[in-house]
Amino acid sequence: MLPGTAVRWATKHGFMRAGINAAARKGDEQARFFTDPAVRADPYPFYRGIRETAPLVRSRLMWATARHDLAGAVLRHEAFGVGFSDRPLPAPIGLMFRFSRRSSPIGPVDPPSMLVTDPPDHTRYRRLVSKVFTARAIEGLRPRIEQTCADLLRDKPADLIADFASLLPVTVIAEILGVPLDMRQKFLAWGNAAAPTLDLGLSFATYRQTEINIRHVNDWMRGHFARLRREPGDDLLSQLVRLDDLSEDELLATAGLLLAAGFETTVNLLGTGAWLLMRHPEQLAILREQPQRWGNAVEETLRFDSPVQVTARVCRKATEFGGEAIEPGHVVMAMLGGANRDPEVFPDPDTFDVTRTNAREHLSFSGGVHYCLGAALARLEGEIGLRMLFERYPDLRIDGEPHRRTTRVLRGFESLPVTI
Ligand code: HEM
Repeated sequence: MLPGTAVRWATKHGFMRAGINAAARKGDEQARFFTDPAVRADPYPFYRGIRETAPLVRSRLMWATARHDLAGAVLRHEAFGVGFSDRPLPAPIGLMFRFSRRSSPIGPVDPPSMLVTDPPDHTRYRRLVSKVFTARAIEGLRPRIEQTCADLLRDKPADLIADFASLLPVTVIAEILGVPLDMRQKFLAWGNAAAPTLDLGLSFATYRQTEINIRHVNDWMRGHFARLRREPGDDLLSQLVRLDDLSEDELLATAGLLLAAGFETTVNLLGTGAWLLMRHPEQLAILREQPQRWGNAVEETLRFDSPVQVTARVCRKATEFGGEAIEPGHVVMAMLGGANRDPEVFPDPDTFDVTRTNAREHLSFSGGVHYCLGAALARLEGEIGLRMLFERYPDLRIDGEPHRRTTRVLRGFESLPVTI
């Protein structure tokens, strides 16, 4: 496995890592996003700097925007697509990469995952699963999510992430997909170890760990598909297996993405939301007085500290964008977390305000054809989870040092000790 892993690491992260480090040494501002611990701890002053420099900032690495209008526009622009391309690589390396892909495990950002696939294949993958995630279908899950929350909140949480925020989303998505609940802790462990795969310029050791853990998920899923072929249920994965419309790799990519996206992001919404409300008791007091505002509190949490901080698009055909000429192969990074603090759209953007009327205009669920498939589910889990948490434990407070995750694209807490 190792030579393939090394080639994949070199092409996906190694060259980029060298480029990022070289750019950082030359004082490239954008490179700080990937290297500077202060930016990871608090990226918002950094986004402000990018936004104030230019609408679209070019660096040695890529283009970037922290403006709401341009970030939204690039996500919807027909000249841009998604996914890693081996085209810029020198020919022999591109060849090695394509060869090494044959033995690659399939993670959430590897093709044929819909997240990194352009139409028409993207449309085909998404159509097969979208029915289950419409706002209406998700609203039907409300009683079940409330029951799950009540069960999880029966014992007082000591660490809000381990004891509540991570368990609610993984339980809900496991039930939708039809994977056994006793696998939850394994999935969480594999998912946590694989989460850095969304970041850029990983070290070899970290990349290797992500591959090992993605391979565990792949192996388990293959066995699960075989079981479902013998004994199908009425869950989503049984339906997909029965349809027989997807190849084994497509099935693996779709199932793995739904599972990982289902719990790797919403945990951050719940953890960050609880942390913000414990630190802003005056906002919690508003929600106690006006519980109809819980939905908006979730939108404001998503705006204020987005669980997914950035995404990117690759230019497919030469185009004029944001007043600049963008060439095929150029990458534009949409800084979602920065767009959500754009003062042109959100007055007083650095204030957490659960009564903000346009909080829902955030870009935390992206936009265009890749708009988050699970947005309705995440919103419902966020609303029920945060409301029930503070109803059950009104005096919840932080008790010790919270620790943030070390990832940069995904933002949230790894641990959040609390007491009541
Ligand atoms: C607060 C929680 C969540 C956040 C912030 C979030 C954020 C995002 C973002 C930003 C994207 C698009 C990335 C891009 O455009 O490059 C995305 C895509 C996606 N999300 Fe979510 N997500 C959340 C929860 C969920 C849940 C619960 C599911 C469960 C099914 C889910 C499933 C997906 C899928 C399948 C895609 C790919 C859609 C496509 O490529 O067409 N997400 N999400």
